Amino acid sequence: MRIDKYISELGVASRKESAKIAKSGGVLVDGVPVRDLSIHIDPERQRVTFQGRELTYSKFTYVMLNKPAGYVSATEDSKLPVVTELLSDELRKRELFPVGRLDKDTVGLMILTNDGVLAHTLLSPKHHVAKDYYFKADEPLPNGAEEKFRDGITLADGYECKEAKIVLEENRMSGIITLTEGKYHQIKRMVASFDNAVVYLKRISFATIPLDTSLAEGQWRYLTDEEIDILRSFAK
Ligand code: URA
Repeated sequence: MRIDKYISELGVASRKESAKIAKSGGVLVDGVPVRDLSIHIDPERQRVTFQGRELTYSKFTYVMLNKPAGYVSATEDSKLPVVTELLSDELRKRELFPVGRLDKDTVGLMILTNDGVLAHTLLSPKHHVAKDYYFKADEPLPNGAEEKFRDGITLADGYECKEAKIVLEENRMSGIITLTEGKYHQIKRMVASFDNAVVYLKRISFATIPLDTSLAEGQWRYLTDEEIDILRSFAK
């Protein structure tokens, strides 16, 4: 693979930026400065250092997307646009898929990867991965709603939700809900159990990783090494 492509795919710098840095000796391959980034390397065997930092090769790709409304959390759909359409052509070739689902009208943090094993771990109920959602409801939630979320809400179909947390804003019509499971329309159905309705829903964190607020809706970026380590810590 070309070095500049490798660097840009890791999300470290664009091809243009890395060309500039290489010219001043900031890119090393196995300790030797390279000024022409069109040369090819084997990322599994060669060590690339960029501005003093050694880049870690990963077989897999991990991306954070700020999902806009109107997109389905899938890789294909016969009628509606899907979240993977928002990625670059290069990433689409790498066959990323969303880790879990958000409803079509839900916005916010979505992780996409082609690491099936890690995705499976993060979605497995036994790992209790926490997800935070900011919501707005049609009407205030009653006093005592906090305790009901904590004790486990029973949905209309009889499903008993696991312990969850709700922190309401002063108007009690909006706030943050934290879930460690992901049933179909779960927050909407939890709020519906109070004869109320969710009018806006945004995921603001996944597995303690917050949504990068510099991403506009529809934009994505690669996860950092630190964020990938957080995800991997659930598999230990
Ligand atoms: N709960 C919902 O109701 N919808 C989502 O998209 C996520 C959680």
